Parts: sequence; C-alpha cells; structure tokens
Amino acid sequence: MTITIAIDGPAAAGKGTISKAVAEHLGLAHLDTGLLYRAVAARTLTGEDAIAVAQDLSAGDLEVENLRTAEVAQMASKVAAIPEVRLALVAFQRDFARHSDGAVLDGRDIGTVICPDAAVKLFVTASPEVRARRRYQEQAAQGSTDSYETVLTEVLARDERDMNRADAPLKPADDAVLIDTSDLGIKAAVDAAIRVIEQRMTDG
Ligand code: DC
Repeated sequence: MTITIAIDGPAAAGKGTISKAVAEHLGLAHLDTGLLYRAVAARTLTGEDAIAVAQDLSAGDLEVENLRTAEVAQMASKVAAIPEVRLALVAFQRDFARHSDGAVLDGRDIGTVICPDAAVKLFVTASPEVRARRRYQEQAAQGSTDSYETVLTEVLARDERDMNRADAPLKPADDAVLIDTSDLGIKAAVDAAIRVIEQRMTDG
C-alpha cells in the first residue's frame, strides 16, 4: 500500500524537521517541495526565465548549494506565485508521492492541491515571532549578520505573498490537523506529529 502524508505550513514552523523525522520513523521517502521553488529561484536569479526553468527542472537541480539563502527564499516565494511555474512542478511532486512504500511531502499546497487524497494531512504552524527567532538563529549560526527585525520582516513578507496568491495559496486543507509548535521543542513537536499520524492511520 502506498501511503501519502502531506505536511504544510509557513516558513520556519518546523515542518521540515517534522517531515524528516516522520519519514524516518515510518520508513517513507521524503520530499521537501520548497526545494523545487528554491531551485527555480536560484536559476532565475542568474537571469534565466522562471517558467522555462520550471519546465525543465530535474532532480539534480535540487542538489545545488546555496538554495537556503534569504535571497533565494524571497525569490522562491515570488516565482511560486506564477501559475505556469506551479503547473510545471506538479508532475514531479505527484510522481514522488507514488513512491512505492509511500512518501512524506512538505510544502504549502500538498494537502490542498498536490495530494488532496493524502492519508494524513498536517498543518504545522507557529507565531511569526517564534518562526523569525528560529530562522534568525539558524542564519546567524551560518554566519549571517541580518538582524532579528530583518528576518521577521522577511518572514512576514513571505507569509503575506504565500497566503494571498491566487493560485494554490498557503492554507490548511479542510481535513488537516493543526499543530502549533510555538511552545514546543523539536522532540515534542515530532512526537505530536507522530501521534496524530499513527492515530489517523489506525482509524483508517
Ligand atoms: O518551504 P520553503 O521555505 O523552502 O519554501 C520556499 C518558497 O517556495 C515559499 O515561500 C513558497 C514556495 N512554496 C510553494 O509555493 N509551495 C510549496 N509546496 C513549497 C514552497
């Protein structure tokens, strides 16, 4: 049986960490779909056309370095608002979801658009301040000199763009279970997610 687990939510809510841990726990493949948009963004920043890049994107593009910078994140949010870019990336994501043992996909529209029939849907969120604090600490550890206020402004700008675009905006699917990680450490957040998933899988 192929099981799909959809994990959506805004930037730095913890969905990447949770998705990786859940995939490992259940022995499933994992796709961070944000990487697709980041890969398109990185090539767009070097002057290529976003739609053309999305149409010819391959797995190798996800391996390149520097997809985690703040500049690439903002551009990813911009190219993600272009319907032709989103459309070009659908098949890659759905093919991955058909991975034989099943898969965990994390992103913004997995439960609503990419895999509406996913067995379990989680919407992982946290307050913008908590998310900005986490992102700030992550970036500072990598040598960034951006202030907390700058990071908060970037997080809010990305939320605004991702939630208000016309095509596949960031929002919880009607049947998603919400997990707010504002007051949870990594282990507690992962445990909460695994509990919900195992509960849903037993309930069928
Ligand atoms: O998850 P992330 O921060 O790596 O995502 C980067 C951007 O890509 C995000 O701001 C919006 C876009 N994105 C999207 O529109 N749909 C997805 N499924 C994943 C990411």
